[in-house]
Amino acid sequence: MKAAVYPGSFDPVTLGHMNIIERAASIFDKVYVCVMVNSEKNPMFSRQERVEMIQRCCAGLPNVVVETSGGLLVDYAASRGAVAIVKGLRAVSDFDWEFQMALANKKLNPAIETMFLASSEKYTYLSSTVAKEMAKYGADLSDFLPNEIIPDVLNKQKK
Ligand code: PNS
Repeated sequence: MKAAVYPGSFDPVTLGHMNIIERAASIFDKVYVCVMVNSEKNPMFSRQERVEMIQRCCAGLPNVVVETSGGLLVDYAASRGAVAIVKGLRAVSDFDWEFQMALANKKLNPAIETMFLASSEKYTYLSSTVAKEMAKYGADLSDFLPNEIIPDVLNKQKK
């Protein structure tokens, strides 16, 4: 059985993330979506909230497990027996940082490969930051976020 980890901040999960999760789930026997800490970001949702939102969106994907970890990505991946880390690449601007992370993770655990899935062209412009900005100004979020979590994002704006 081949398992992969799809890590990220997912603050919140977008339709672009969901596209990568669905494609990874069709390639691997099991996909662990892991909400992790990005020390450069100040999230809107708690890690537990993000896990719960992604679980709702992945209810129809039986081989997807959603968890969180506050540790190193490679340690989490090894603990789940994953052979690969899956990342989505939207544009050249993602590449430098993602390549650096892939090399750092390879150094930490050479047994785990990083695999990049090219983002669907429908979502190359999309990020959690863009979706939160749209929400702030009351834009229609249905092209950006899964319907299951739009109320959560709108409720956060009111707080
Ligand atoms: O969605 P993001 O914010 O681009 O995801 C980045 C994330 C959370 C995957 C990355 O920051 C990460 O792997 N954090 C866990 C700590 C770690 O293993 N860092 C990389 C090696 S130093």
